[in-house]
Amino acid sequence: MSHYKVERLKINYKTLEEFQKFREYGLQELSMLEDLQANIIENDSNSPFYGIYLDGNLIARASLYRIDAKYDRYFDPPQDYYELWKLEVLPQYRHRGCGTALVEHAKSLGLPIKTNARCRSDEFWKKMGFIPVKYDPVRDRGENPYVWTPPGVSLKE
Ligand SMILES: CC(C)(COP(=O)(O)OP(=O)(O)OC[C@H]1O[C@@H](n2cnc3c(N)ncnc32)[C@H](O)[C@@H]1OP(=O)(O)O)[C@@H](O)C(=O)NCCC(=O)NCCS
Repeated sequence: MSHYKVERLKINYKTLEEFQKFREYGLQELSMLEDLQANIIENDSNSPFYGIYLDGNLIARASLYRIDAKYDRYFDPPQDYYELWKLEVLPQYRHRGCGTALVEHAKSLGLPIKTNARCRSDEFWKKMGFIPVKYDPVRDRGENPYVWTPPGVSLKE
């Protein structure tokens, strides 16, 4: 078991500033900035971001979105699941279990998980117990989907 504590990240300027250290900084962060500028989100509103701090600095993060069963095209029967995005550990902190801790946290929420294995991370996802899904060009549109299922959940044929 990992000794890292996974925290839900607050949606605020401090978090946004921490995100600038990560390689993947794009539309999701820009929309967070716009929402903050427009004052339409609360500091403590339900955030899709999770992360690990070390000495007050964010060293790993991931986002986790709950997808409604009505959009599920991966599991049988269709059910709510999590999409895991943007799993990233700052380079100097890799291979110490942070990635595992974030994935374990997502699993502990009890729903199936789908991710898009990027950056040649296939071996990492397999180690995490994820399995590659047979590619469906219409559904997966260029992604490299991997899923994890809790006991009793099957994949759609
Ligand atoms: C992939 C990533 C999140 C792994 O995080 P991490 O904290 O280094 O991973 P862990 O220390 O928990 O490693 C868990 C296991 O996966 C293996 N592993 C880690 N990164 C790997 C990679 N890129 N490819 C293959 N195996 C990997 C480790 O060797 C370890 O195996 P072990 O327990 O047998 O030693 C991190 O390398 C990263 O941020 N990479 C860049 C972004 C990325 O690829 N994100 C994921 C896809 S979008």
